[in-house]
Amino acid sequence: MTTTIYELRNVAKTYASRQVLYIQDLQIQRGEILALVGPSGAGKSTLLRLLNFLEEPTQGTISFLGQPFGARRDIPLCLRRKVTTVFQRPVLLNRSVRSNVAFGLRLRQGWWPLCLDGVDRRVDEALEMVGLSDLADQRARTLSGGEAQRVALARAIVLEPEALLLDEPTANLDPHNVALIESIIRDLNRRRGTTIVVVTHNVFQARRLAHRAGLLLDGSLIELADSETFFEHPRDERTRAFVRGEMIY
Ligand SMILES: Nc1ncnc2c1ncn2[C@@H]1O[C@H](COP(=O)(O)OP(=O)(O)O)[C@@H](O)[C@H]1O
Ligand SMILES: [Mg+2]
Repeated sequence: MTTTIYELRNVAKTYASRQVLYIQDLQIQRGEILALVGPSGAGKSTLLRLLNFLEEPTQGTISFLGQPFGARRDIPLCLRRKVTTVFQRPVLLNRSVRSNVAFGLRLRQGWWPLCLDGVDRRVDEALEMVGLSDLADQRARTLSGGEAQRVALARAIVLEPEALLLDEPTANLDPHNVALIESIIRDLNRRRGTTIVVVTHNVFQARRLAHRAGLLLDGSLIELADSETFFEHPRDERTRAFVRGEMIY
């Protein structure tokens, strides 16, 4: 089995003739937590949308689980479903927490009762992993920001993705919920071996979570290294400035 889950070669994304991302070469390893840091506008979310197959690269190839996909090449649903994204601000349905977590799973499995095997068990396990078992029957829209983000994580966890993409998952949350969410991410990675790509502008969070970290600046990957090297002995001056909080942006 390959140890590489994603491989990007010469990948560019252009919006209205402006190139906002160019990645010559990037490999993401199966089972790792990769943090991508960089200032606002660097192209972090754009890269996640390519990894999630929500958008296609304008140029270049993204291989996922050994299968290459380029511009205008459709990715089969069965592969697309192996990737799930959690965004900064979750949109929850005006239903119970449990029903929000079950929703995506039910959509995938179909509404017929015969097809619903295991849904309750998987939902219970996901709720337990995010520490929301006690709030399962509460209406999701009455939750605090941190609880709502944990529902969003449970909704992703229940789908058992191979790759979980997190776009600024703790921005604007209180420290208690930030710590909770970071421990859920680590737990998921350890328990299930889920590959996690977390985008954050918070260097401290990247340092706490990541096995490897990369810096995106103006759409380019400046440096990618194991956490120790990236945070303690970065090779690039710009990485050094960014991790020390000295970069003005
Ligand atoms: N759909 C889009 N159309 C045009 N420009 C976009 C679009 N999405 C992102 N951009 C531009 O691409 C650049 C990178 O954006 P983004 O990936 O959101 O950065 P980050 O997530 O690092 O803050 C920004 O300059 C942004 O304005
Ligand atoms: Mg962004």
